[in-house]
Amino acid sequence: MKDEELLTVVVELNILLADYHLYYQKLRSNHWNILGKNFFDLHEKFEDLYSDARIKIDEIAERILTLRYHPMSKFSDYLKVSTIAEAAPLKTDMDMVQETINDHKLLLTQMSKVIEKAESVGDEGTIDLIGAYIRELEKSSWMLNAWTKKSSESLKPNVLEV
Ligand SMILES: [Fe+2]
Repeated sequence: MKDEELLTVVVELNILLADYHLYYQKLRSNHWNILGKNFFDLHEKFEDLYSDARIKIDEIAERILTLRYHPMSKFSDYLKVSTIAEAAPLKTDMDMVQETINDHKLLLTQMSKVIEKAESVGDEGTIDLIGAYIRELEKSSWMLNAWTKKSSESLKPNVLEV
């Protein structure tokens, strides 16, 4: 892999790094500002999510360094390139969860771009790292989505059981 080839991967990794910083801070805000009957559950859930994001932020930055580039490090740069937008901190528990699910979709889209570039230059290490993130994020999106439903709602039936 040549440095110039890897640069296409690094560009997408830097955008993902920016996305994760915005996502992380929004989760901290949710952790602080959550109100209501779901306080105890969601206060803790948002902490779980931002703790996980904090680890991934470091891993993404260090992947960029492993590819011999410097990670983007300034918040002003993150705000310029992030696909995730800042949002008003005060909102209902449902809106917080819905927005987190939406941010997961944006992260997954950016992760797909990273994988696409990594595949085109044979960067197996990045494919492995980000592939695992996709699997984990899809799982936590399913859990958050389940939280937004009423217990009387059902999932799509299994075709074999219809
Ligand atoms: Fe706390």
